[in-house]
Amino acid sequence: MSTYLRPYHPADLAGIYRVCLLVDAVGGARPARFHNGDLPGHVYAGPYAVADPGLAFVVADERGVGGYVVATADTLRFRQWLDEHWWPVLREQYPRRADPGDGTRDHVLIEDIHATPGAPRPWFATHPAQLHIKLADRLQGRGWGRRLMEALCAALRERGVPGAHLGVAAGNRRAIAFYDALGFTQAHEHDWGHTLVLDLVRPTAKEVTDTPD
Ligand SMILES: CC(C)(COP(=O)(O)OP(=O)(O)OC[C@H]1O[C@@H](n2cnc3c(N)ncnc32)[C@H](O)[C@@H]1OP(=O)(O)O)[C@@H](O)C(=O)NCCC(=O)NCCS
Repeated sequence: MSTYLRPYHPADLAGIYRVCLLVDAVGGARPARFHNGDLPGHVYAGPYAVADPGLAFVVADERGVGGYVVATADTLRFRQWLDEHWWPVLREQYPRRADPGDGTRDHVLIEDIHATPGAPRPWFATHPAQLHIKLADRLQGRGWGRRLMEALCAALRERGVPGAHLGVAAGNRRAIAFYDALGFTQAHEHDWGHTLVLDLVRPTAKEVTDTPD
């Protein structure tokens, strides 16, 4: 079965939402449950691909989109875009609601849709890009994550973006090992996990080590 990595095309959006829903990103054995399966994509993937399709890449095979990386080059400008173009419709469609107590997580993401963003963090200036990456089980551990990140970093470097950041849950040991292998370092420890950053201006220590003599 052939597998391709390519720039995002609008026809990929549904597949990106599917992967976002089905792949766990907190290190748990099972993905969270939702009554409305669109919600994870609305929060963690869709707006990035729509706002800046040039910073989205997918891995696809005969079973469809099986992985993606999506990003914004500038977190603060992206927040402004969300407020103007993304959240208003969703806030109207999904009013805040209480935890129904049935183990579903809709109310948590609906709260994110309504949340007022916190104050800018120091790494927004030094590492303004922000990204999300996910691969379906069938494509994990085969180098696609590294290739997706390489494609994204090349696009960010072309635009002169100095660095990127992301959040990773403390329990997601696999992702933490992946980011470490790619040269990310910790910028901040939170009660939920870590903010990691990657310099894009200078080659990372890993890239220097990998350079042939
Ligand atoms: C995390 C994720 C994106 C990594 O992508 P991947 O394709 O599985 O990783 P790769 O095969 O490209 O591995 C790249 C490097 O990461 C490291 N790595 C990957 N998985 C690892 C693991 N389980 N343990 C230790 N190191 C690991 C390896 O050093 C590997 O180096 P190599 O290229 O020299 O072999 C992918 O597993 C995934 O989507 N996981 C579920 C969703 C998720 O957690 N997303 C991140 C949320 S913050």
